Amino acid sequence: MSQTITGDVNEAGETGQSVAAAIRAALLESDPHAKVMATRRVARDWRLGRLAHVFDVAMPDEPGRPETPELLPPNRMPKRGKAGSERGRIALWHAIAHIEFVAIDLALDMAGRFGAGMDRQFVDDFLSVAADEAIHFALLDRHLRKSGSHYGALPAHNGLWDAASETRHDVAARLAVVPMVLEARGLDVTPATIERARAVGDPAGARILERILDDEIRHVRFGANHFAATAERLGKEPVNLWKTLVSRHFRGTVKPPFNDSARSAAGLPLGLYAGVA
Ligand SMILES: [Fe+2]
Ligand SMILES: [Fe+2]
Repeated sequence: MSQTITGDVNEAGETGQSVAAAIRAALLESDPHAKVMATRRVARDWRLGRLAHVFDVAMPDEPGRPETPELLPPNRMPKRGKAGSERGRIALWHAIAHIEFVAIDLALDMAGRFGAGMDRQFVDDFLSVAADEAIHFALLDRHLRKSGSHYGALPAHNGLWDAASETRHDVAARLAVVPMVLEARGLDVTPATIERARAVGDPAGARILERILDDEIRHVRFGANHFAATAERLGKEPVNLWKTLVSRHFRGTVKPPFNDSARSAAGLPLGLYAGVA
């Protein structure tokens, strides 16, 4: 009698599908709704022990992208319109939705590309980040639809995946730049956006951003923890390593004003980022 019940379930309750194959499939989804669903499914299946801790396929260089939004270089992006105007308001929500859409792929790629060389906790953490980003995107797209727009209605800027391409060979560089610079930047700027949403009578939008800010503190913390562990494994001093990697791989500048309380809640010490610019 066969021991196999359904679809090659092994002793750990894992099915035959590797976590890498499931992540790759989610990355390659181009339809936003399908990517959200696939991402949430990977995170859930992993959490429930249904995916094998196996990295047998490579991650794509470029993830799937929908036909719209049209992706433009940052200097060709149209002006957002007057602050406070309906057009300007929608353009801002659209830009944030695009950041969250790319953040889904950044988190999936982190887990799928580097998971093999890291501990299980790394995959746990970044698949939970990917699921959060999927929810952030879905909330923002719904918010746009309530305003009569939707994700894809406006152009979006094409530079957000650059950080991933630039750091695709080095997990320490990826951690230094994506969670610890880009997502940390979100902690700095989001409180002002929340205030602005409230000021223009958009409490629902403000609540979405509050939730995002809370989640992003955790995302930065995951990045900082795994970066510290990686530095230790490499026998490198973490602050120096971070500064070296950021100056080598990040083209922008790390500059104030910083949200010191959110950064410290995320485990980023002042000594790490102050005085880098
Ligand atoms: Fe997010
Ligand atoms: Fe995030």
